[in-house]
Amino acid sequence: MTILISVYSMFGNTKRLADAMADALRKNATVNVVPFEKMTAADFAQANLIIVGSATQAFGIPPQVQPILKKLPMGSINGTPCATYDTAIKMVPFRYLTAAKKLTKELQRLGGTTIDTPMSFFVKGKKGPLLDGEIERAQVWASTLLSFTR
Ligand SMILES: Cc1cc2nc3c(=O)[nH]c(=O)nc-3n(C[C@H](O)[C@H](O)[C@H](O)COP(=O)(O)O)c2cc1C
Repeated sequence: MTILISVYSMFGNTKRLADAMADALRKNATVNVVPFEKMTAADFAQANLIIVGSATQAFGIPPQVQPILKKLPMGSINGTPCATYDTAIKMVPFRYLTAAKKLTKELQRLGGTTIDTPMSFFVKGKKGPLLDGEIERAQVWASTLLSFTR
């Protein structure tokens, strides 16, 4: 089984979670962590499970991410199990507006099958660091996603 974790991270916190999730998942699968900017349609097509993570910016998806998603062909991940996560600051107003929710909609547009609710992990401030326990929480969350691929 091949798992793709595609991640956009400006200051490194969202990427740190991706790497920690990959460590947890590698016992059961081949895991590729690919920076969002370098992701290709082929990376998407080869995956049995797709996890997309992004920093939340301006209540949604950062401007660097949106054009890449728009370039991917409709139906390119038809039926592939997908989950999304983001990092965000807990105390920001409108904190229910997150990148992961918007990413989920984009993946559904591409034909992906959403297997979990969008997940947020929290940082202390714009540049981080991650709140205590978030790395472990991300690893547990990622492990639960495996059950949807069998
Ligand atoms: C331009 C900009 C806009 C941001 N807007 C939000 C926001 O709307 N909501 C929020 O919770 N955090 C916001 N943040 C904080 C980011 O979520 C934080 O920088 C990110 O989680 C850190 O992850 P990274 O290290 O992977 O970039 C913003 C940060 C930047 C730089």
